[in-house]
Amino acid sequence: MPTSNQQNWVEVGRIEDIPPLGARLVKSPKGDIAVFRTQGDEIFALRDKCPHKGGPLSQGIVHGKKVACPLHDWKIHLDTGLAVAPDEGCAARFPVEVRDGLIYLSLEPASGR
Ligand code: FES
Repeated sequence: MPTSNQQNWVEVGRIEDIPPLGARLVKSPKGDIAVFRTQGDEIFALRDKCPHKGGPLSQGIVHGKKVACPLHDWKIHLDTGLAVAPDEGCAARFPVEVRDGLIYLSLEPASGR
């Protein structure tokens, strides 16, 4: 378990529990969080709410380090939560850490709301 802000971190399972190029939905008291897995098994977490009209990013497809929103196909950068230009907006980003194949997620956003 990461040591900083220990009470805000939760274990969300193993990397293999997330479909490649997909996401796993984590329910938190402050809203749903989508935890994504890239082709290279990198893990990112964003608020499960597209900055356009709130589409469920957890149901999008991951391309590289971006996810395509299933509603109107905006692309969102997984590492920043920012929409790819010319679209504008930002989904909150949450810290994640992988230790021994286990994913830990902070429920406090690193950026955004
Ligand atoms: S709600 Fe995501 S692109 Fe429109």
